[in-house]
Amino acid sequence: MKNIVNLSDLSLEQIHHLIDEAIAFKNGKTVDYHQKKVVANLFFEPSTRTHYSFDMAAGNLGCRTQNFEANNSSLKKGETLYDTCKLFESIGCDALVIRHTDDDYYKQLEGIHIPILNAGDGKGNHPSQSLLDLMTIKEEFGCFEGLKVVIVGDILHSRVAHSNYDVMQRLGMQVYTSGPLEYKQDGYNYVDFDDVIEDMDVVMLLRVQHERHAGDENFSKENYHRIYGLSLERYKRLKETAILMHPAPINRDVEIKDELVESGKSRIFRQMHNGVFIRMAMIHEVLENE
Ligand code: CP
Repeated sequence: MKNIVNLSDLSLEQIHHLIDEAIAFKNGKTVDYHQKKVVANLFFEPSTRTHYSFDMAAGNLGCRTQNFEANNSSLKKGETLYDTCKLFESIGCDALVIRHTDDDYYKQLEGIHIPILNAGDGKGNHPSQSLLDLMTIKEEFGCFEGLKVVIVGDILHSRVAHSNYDVMQRLGMQVYTSGPLEYKQDGYNYVDFDDVIEDMDVVMLLRVQHERHAGDENFSKENYHRIYGLSLERYKRLKETAILMHPAPINRDVEIKDELVESGKSRIFRQMHNGVFIRMAMIHEVLENE
């Protein structure tokens, strides 16, 4: 793979390979680029998990990193995304990790000749998050085929939902979505959370992305939690083997009750832990094939 920008470009074999490679890294596999490769982390939109776990992943592979500070850069003088990326290519970086506010931003970057790893494009896709979610599910259940997952929340504005809905279906999972009707995505198998909760293997909760929509003045955290959130009452209705996931950041007591974030069924911090290994697999994949 030259770039990893959208999982729909990857075959199922390639997706399984990345997950298996990440599991191998977690189990102790090592690769060392001996500080000869440089990965640039270019985040044009805020991030904590994705940014710092890509940075950790690159370091674990013996790569150097450059961490672009958008707010203190020549973006402020009007430099474009393309020219910024071309600069990092020109100064000797070997791969670019990019998060940007624009859906499909990578389509503007065909003139960049070093690999691009998409760390999230607007409302479009979030392949590294999706892969770490899949790794977490595979560790838990050993397979994907036939598992039932409901993704609950702001589906319309969520790149995590968009990436996962597509790839989980391709892997043979039964995927449902739920949440406020104004955040529903057409064609995404919408259900009432309370109608399906007892039957789900995976409940994936999403944050309401207030930054991506206007008109939220009347949003009530208490109402959202009561109608769509994972409350203590709903938690008791989950299958014994069910797991909870959330890409985070979390709005505690909105999409999930505070005390459930680290409950027995929660895999939220395991997702973050697995993110390092998935990003090691992604970086290694593109550097190895450079
Ligand atoms: N899950 C996720 O993408 O988190 P960050 O925005 O903190 O990177």
